[in-house]
Amino acid sequence: MAEYPAKRLRRLRYNPLVRDLIRETILTKNDLIYPLFVVPGEKFRKEVGSMPGVFQLSIDELVLECEEVKSLGIPAVILFGIPEHKDEAGTDAYNDNGIIQRAVRAIKKDVPGLLVITDVCLCEYTSHGHCGLLKGEEILNDETVELLVKEAVSHAKAGADIIAPSDMMDGRIKAIRSALDENGFEKIPVLSYAVKYASGYYGPFREAAESTPAFGDRKSHQMDPGNSNEAIREAESDVEEGADILMVKPAGPYLDIIYRVKEKTGLPMAAYQVSGEYAMIKAAGKLGWIDEQRVMLESLTAIKRAGADMILTYFAKDVAKLL
Ligand code: PBG
Ligand code: ZN
Repeated sequence: MAEYPAKRLRRLRYNPLVRDLIRETILTKNDLIYPLFVVPGEKFRKEVGSMPGVFQLSIDELVLECEEVKSLGIPAVILFGIPEHKDEAGTDAYNDNGIIQRAVRAIKKDVPGLLVITDVCLCEYTSHGHCGLLKGEEILNDETVELLVKEAVSHAKAGADIIAPSDMMDGRIKAIRSALDENGFEKIPVLSYAVKYASGYYGPFREAAESTPAFGDRKSHQMDPGNSNEAIREAESDVEEGADILMVKPAGPYLDIIYRVKEKTGLPMAAYQVSGEYAMIKAAGKLGWIDEQRVMLESLTAIKRAGADMILTYFAKDVAKLL
């Protein structure tokens, strides 16, 4: 092995063309998944206060947005729905005529060729804002899984290309996989939110999705930020249960988890750069405290470098315009 002065690591950094040649991680449009929020109504387009550039959209506006997303070369969107009615059991989540089901049908009809992923959880649909059925203040597991299964099948029937359960109940991947198969959807992949932390970074999302829990928190199902061996156990059990793609969420503060889960499972990895990560970069950029564009690209490159094959990000349109 050469040593200094024969060894000079800066040698490959002087010329920008050499830097381009040796770059290991390059972000591409194919890595991007754009999250969208669908609401009832028509011609409705309302910016989310804590997420500049992100809007709640009625289905007609959503279709227009999807046309733009597709024309920018972004391959996929993930949909979150805010229903007309919320109730204790989140029934609109598994209503074949619910907000997501109608949105999926509209996109599939008017924007063919755009991949539509649907988020499967109950928190946007329950009156109490929790991710499942409650007994007192406890979120029931097995009873909730039955409803998530109905939601997943209903999304697939509407035409969803990939089903993404984000609830963190035990056993839901196995239950959803077998229900999809029984209903003729054996070709529809399951993208599991396998490792989802109970995170303060979801704040702005809850404003966008109107899904803040009425009491308590999500710590009885989402993971403790201090744990990483547990992330491996979560990921491995989802692999056994039949997940096709694994997600880690949030992304930037959990790069070690993305790396470890990828190393351990070898499955395709998704990472979700969540609303709070986006909001912080946007806010500091607005204040002139950081260079927003530069930090945006750096944050996404870091997530890919850690092992993510795809990134869910509110920056998708901004990045696609640059690439
Ligand atoms: C809900 C869900 C959440 C996010 C995606 N799906 C929020 C939560 O657990 O409260 C967060 C995404 C973001 O913050 O951008 N099932
Ligand atoms: Zn939820």
